[in-house]
Order: sequence, then structure tokens, then C-alpha cells
Amino acid sequence: IGLDIAILGLGTVGGGVKDIIDKSPRLKEKLNVAAIWVRKEKVDATQNKTNDYQSILDNDDIKVIVETLGGIHPAYEMIMDAFKAGKNVVTANKAVVAKYMEEFIHEAKQNHVSFRFEPSVAGGIPWIQNLKRVLRIDDVQSIGGILNGTSNFIIDAIVNQHVSFDEALKQAQDLGYAEADSTADIDGYDVENKLCISTDLAFNTLVKPGDAIKKVGIRNLLKEDVDFFLGRNMNIKLIGQARLYNQDKLAISIEPTLLPVDNTIATVNGNLNYVQLTGDTIGPLGFLGQGAGRKPTANALLQDVVDILESNPYYDIDGSHHLVIDNNNFSAEYILRTELDLSELQDVSNLEGKYWHLANQTIESAHMLYQEILQRDNKAIMFRQ
Ligand code: HSE
Repeated sequence: IGLDIAILGLGTVGGGVKDIIDKSPRLKEKLNVAAIWVRKEKVDATQNKTNDYQSILDNDDIKVIVETLGGIHPAYEMIMDAFKAGKNVVTANKAVVAKYMEEFIHEAKQNHVSFRFEPSVAGGIPWIQNLKRVLRIDDVQSIGGILNGTSNFIIDAIVNQHVSFDEALKQAQDLGYAEADSTADIDGYDVENKLCISTDLAFNTLVKPGDAIKKVGIRNLLKEDVDFFLGRNMNIKLIGQARLYNQDKLAISIEPTLLPVDNTIATVNGNLNYVQLTGDTIGPLGFLGQGAGRKPTANALLQDVVDILESNPYYDIDGSHHLVIDNNNFSAEYILRTELDLSELQDVSNLEGKYWHLANQTIESAHMLYQEILQRDNKAIMFRQ
């Protein structure tokens, strides 16, 4: 009875998937974990744990491969092999989906199987499926929000729990929010992956992580920054956003952003994410929920598996909308904290002490200036206002 699935990896998310199924009578009626692929040293035949992927691919009863390995290799090869073997795939792995969206969609289509990735963006929030629903009626002009639970948790812990950056990061790791390599969380790469996936779907395009997407993470964020802006009634949130303009252009950035303390997004704390879109007839639409963590992410993954069971197809992105990433439009204001004296620069004025206000910027020009400043002061940080 039920649908046979195989889980690849038994870490935070894979383990969460198994736990939820084991403890849920209603899921146990529908799903059976027939095999778990683990690394060689973790093989345990009594618990269905194998390192023999071919035996999983050859098992015709297994219809869905649940990929929770993370990272690019061997996840990429294992997902492609699953499609070729006629298996449906659900993955929580944003890095591999952001990089190989085109190949995966192509291969899934070729083999008439589903490819779903709800848990890869914003953890437990049903963002991908709702974005898809909105697109049944509307064009979407912009998407974005708080897309990394770890960095949001760290900022919240610094502001409200008065703990240090390093201690907050350690807590996020202990709670299973942070990536194995937390650089992805604190330097904006994780948000970049999630933004690429969402952008592909929202605009039927294929963007890949890379330099055109302007990124500032929270690595250089200090408690004094938080206090400085709180004194001006502003909170800092790491915001990723993509906006379509002139029909074929995309402004896309990830930046610590200053928001009035009573702004809805400014009050989103802990590991929560907040994602929003703006559509033609629906207008602004926002989603709030746990963006990281074992149970919420496993929950989103299982929703995708049940959707496959109930025959909902793959997401159809053909990339026919060719967009150019161009961050040279839209004026934006920024504040930079640096030890350097910027008083000679055009359109830069001193706000107070080390904080400088940049006027008349585009995303491109501000990030270019920031990169130059980082060469001479690697502790500097820039905030979007
Ligand atoms: N490290 C990620 C985060 C996990 O903190 O958001 C969820 O994608």
C-alpha cells in the first residue's frame, strides 16, 4: 500500500522527512520509505540504508526520489539519473536547482516525470506553489523578501537577545538552520540561489547565480550598526529582490536593508522568512513562515511528494522570456559604514562618524563603490535605505 519513495541523505531535512512520516498515521497510509541512500560508512541494511544507488534506480516500485543531500555533487548526477530511470524527483537543494534548473526541467519533461522543489525556497512556506497559482492569472512584476532563516535569526539575536554574531551563528547551526558551510548564509549566496529559482518561475526565464546579481551579506554586520540604526528607528533585514522592468530587464539584488521598525517585514524575527510578490490583479501578496529548520522544510518537501501522488505535474519553465540582468536603473539610497574618509566623493555625505550617506545611486553604482571600498577596508558594510 502507498507510494514507495527513496530518500537521498539522512541529515537535517532527510531525517525530518523520515520522522514526520513515521509519526503521521495519515502519511503512513500514503507513503512508504523503501530505501535511504547514505554514504558508505553509514550503510545499515536493517534500516533500509544503502549506498547502492543503482539498486534504487532499478527498483520499479520506487516512484519518487527525495533528494536532501545538499551541494552540487553528487546531487546533480543523482537527480539526472533519477529522471533517466523514470523517477519523479523532489529536492530541497537550492544550490543545485538554481544552477541546473534548465537541465532538470528538460530531463523531467523528456521522461514524463515530475520535478518539484518547494522546500528549496523559504523552507516551510508554500511559496513556489502559490507563485505558480498566481501566474495562472497574473503577470508578476516583482518578488522578494527575507529568504534566509540563518541571517534573520542572527540579526534578531543581536538586536533582541543581545548575543554576539558568532554566538548567534552557533545557535543557528545547533538548531539546524545554517548550511554546512555557513558562508552561504552570511554572504548572501543562499538567498541568491533562492532568488534565482523564484525568478525563473516568476518570469519564465533562466537566471543563474553569478556576478550580475549584486550581493552584500551580513558578514561585516556589527552590533554598533544595529544600535546606530535602531537609534534612528530602523531595523536591518537581509532582503533579496528581483524586479522586472522595460519588459526585458531585471534588477536583482541582495542587500542588508534599512526598514522603519514598525514596517511589517522589519518585525519578522527568528528563523522566519517573509516572501512577497506583486501581481497584476492580486496586487501585493506576502507569505510568512519558518524559512529554515528540520520539520518545516521536511513538511514542504512532503507536500510536494503528496502532490505527485495526487498527480500534479512539474513546473513548466521553458526560459523563453530572455531577460537581461541590468542593475543600472532605479535610483536607490545607501548608507555605508567604513573607517575611510569618503568626504571627497561626489554624492556622498557624512551621516555621523563612520556612517556615510550615498545619494543618487543605482544598485550597480553603489555596489561598484562598495567593492572599491572593501579593497581598502574589508570590514565595511553597505545598507540599502
Ligand atoms: N540555511 C538556510 C537558511 C536553510 O538559513 O535559510 C533553509 O534554506
